[in-house]
Amino acid sequence: MQTPGPIGVFDSGYGGLTVLKEIVRSLPQYDYIYLGDNARAPYGNRSFETVYRYTLECVKWFFSQRCSLVILACNTASAKALRTIQQNDLPVIAPDKRVLGVIRPTTEKIGEYSESKSVGIMATNGTVSSNSYPIEIERFFPGVKVYQEACPMWVPLVENNEYQSHAADYFIRKNIHSIFEKGNDIDVILLACTHYPLLKEKIEKYLPVGVKLLSQGEIVANSLKEYLHRHPEIETKCSKNSLRSFYTTDSAGDFDNHAARFFGEAILSKHIDL
Ligand code: DGL
Repeated sequence: MQTPGPIGVFDSGYGGLTVLKEIVRSLPQYDYIYLGDNARAPYGNRSFETVYRYTLECVKWFFSQRCSLVILACNTASAKALRTIQQNDLPVIAPDKRVLGVIRPTTEKIGEYSESKSVGIMATNGTVSSNSYPIEIERFFPGVKVYQEACPMWVPLVENNEYQSHAADYFIRKNIHSIFEKGNDIDVILLACTHYPLLKEKIEKYLPVGVKLLSQGEIVANSLKEYLHRHPEIETKCSKNSLRSFYTTDSAGDFDNHAARFFGEAILSKHIDL
């Protein structure tokens, strides 16, 4: 049998660290390897073909690091690349390995949070235009109304450390106002981009009273826990020494300076070329 390896966690940049943080909290015994494709981020405005190509390159890199399980902790990659990788690539390049995303675990749960049966999805252009959320929510919660709002400025605000600025207030207020104009009975707002939890405080300021704000970290962590329980054939291939390692396709120094904000503790990363 193959030697067990770490669980791979991927994002276009820093956002996936908000998910990894919750996964580590919930499943501290496993080893994790994180890759941020910062040199090519953001993915949000890129074409399907480009996001697919970049994501597949990163997935192959994880496989070269002995990962048997890779989590795409990026909604844009989950929306635009995951299905093709699962259906076309994995059977050919790595039939015994698994790649999971963040959209399915979220859409399996979201309907449970809404009393008005009306939910709002804040996401990148790429995630919104893929229509993945409305399609998946309809499968698990038929009849729940889904309103989407593309927030193309939110990731750049976070990536450029402007997320506490007045500019952030301006764009957040604008997008929140716009989604409630589309659906005034929304009672759950999902942050469907792993960068957005950093904007949570400001978003809460502009939400109507009583509206719940959901981010994905905890939902994805719980879902992974259940997945590992249901799939011992994958679980036994995941090593358990509580090790974490971090890689970026851009400058490791820059990554370390920014990453602590997302992960909640200091990080020492290494650079890789893909
Ligand atoms: N964090 C990624 C997501 O969850 C998107 C960031 C990007 O645009 O690259 O969608």
